[in-house]
Amino acid sequence: MDKFIIHGGKKLKGSVKVSGAKNASLALMPATLVNNGINKLYNTPELNDVYTMLKLLSQMGVKYSFNNHLLELDTSSITSYEAPYEHVKKMRASIYVLGPLLARYGYAKVSMPGGCAWGPRPVNLHLMAMEKLGAEIQLDQGYIIARSNRLKGNYINFDIPSVGATGNTLMAAVLAKGNTIINNAACEPEITNLCNYLIKMGAKINGIGTSILEVEGVDELKPAEIETIPDRIEAGTLLIAGAITRGNIRVIGGVTHHLHSLLSKLEDSGCKLAYNKDYIEINAEDVEVSPVDVTTAVFPGFPTDMQAQWIAYMSLANGTSNVTDTIYTDRFNHVPELVRLGADIIVHENTARIVGVKRLTGAKVMSTDLRASASLVLAGLAAEGTTEVLRVYHIDRGYQKIEEKLKTLGADIERVEGSEY
Ligand code: EPU
Repeated sequence: MDKFIIHGGKKLKGSVKVSGAKNASLALMPATLVNNGINKLYNTPELNDVYTMLKLLSQMGVKYSFNNHLLELDTSSITSYEAPYEHVKKMRASIYVLGPLLARYGYAKVSMPGGCAWGPRPVNLHLMAMEKLGAEIQLDQGYIIARSNRLKGNYINFDIPSVGATGNTLMAAVLAKGNTIINNAACEPEITNLCNYLIKMGAKINGIGTSILEVEGVDELKPAEIETIPDRIEAGTLLIAGAITRGNIRVIGGVTHHLHSLLSKLEDSGCKLAYNKDYIEINAEDVEVSPVDVTTAVFPGFPTDMQAQWIAYMSLANGTSNVTDTIYTDRFNHVPELVRLGADIIVHENTARIVGVKRLTGAKVMSTDLRASASLVLAGLAAEGTTEVLRVYHIDRGYQKIEEKLKTLGADIERVEGSEY
């Protein structure tokens, strides 16, 4: 298992480019299952989660080539309609094959995702939507077995706007007979990217980017190509790397309108920001960081996927802040590890109360999940002395060579391969 060794205290400077969005790719890739032929996904990030999805799709019979961020997926010879436990247990996004397989082939067998590192993450909304579209669902020995004749459009209301359930329903409804309305749909940019891709295949979708999506089912969809949007969470993490080290950096390719909630919080904390369509610059030099409260919410609110990184940043603010996660109320595994670096944080229910400290000091810390690892790397960049972040396979799931990107900004960070647990 690899670890990072970080000698903290360097102010980051320079420019860095954002990769394609993990959570967009993880929806675009299974979406190719609704057609029959060669699809091209540009700007696909080289991430462990993308490779896991590729393994899953290839065991279903999808052929692929992946060069220079162009992922070509040939869906013309599908031979299996199953997502086995060994893939799903690694990556919950494997559930995304349910909708497209059901719509295109009338059958899917998908291992039921269990809990995850920070608590239960149910899939009831995915299953409810498939049933509304006419599927018969059985749960058998840990598997979801879904069968249908041609799906039929219907009215689907989500009590909670779920990204995954919205994506899955879209990938099913595009091939259903008749119209589907998805009410209280997720509006995340990754869903908009998926809608635009399905439209390129010939799907008919209205209301894109809003919480009411209207889908007019078609008989057939053709292969298509699309550019994966930039990763807003990677962009946000890099911006906080600039802020927490009191640096001055330019993040190239981050889309500002995907990041307004974070950018405005960064401004509230005292950082100077400048942006245009090509880049976002953050200047935190000589800034005395003010404490800023954050409550996570669905897009365009503050993303839960930036909560851990914000807590790391606030641990060095000049005062006390509160960070509340309303999406994943247990997602605080990073807190005890940040405390090992000297942070003063107490979690009560779904709120972390962070009393800013003057300095963090290096220590060995353990990654427990993707965004938790990102927060530990950020804290390590700002801490005095040496921080070792163990189990960085978590960070490799969702950040493409983060250490290389940070090095181009002047960070002192090394990956040590095959190290201790
Ligand atoms: N929920 C249900 N029932 C469901 C589905 C979701 O109750 O059937 C609840 C969840 O428990 C949660 C809320 O709805 O409280 C929102 O969950 P959502 O379904 O939107 O999450 P997801 O689709 O499983 C995606 C991202 C996550 C990100 C969330 C929230 C992908 C592959 N994953 O997950 O990304 O945190 O949306 O924005 O798109 C990450 O990248 O680190 C990550 C965890």
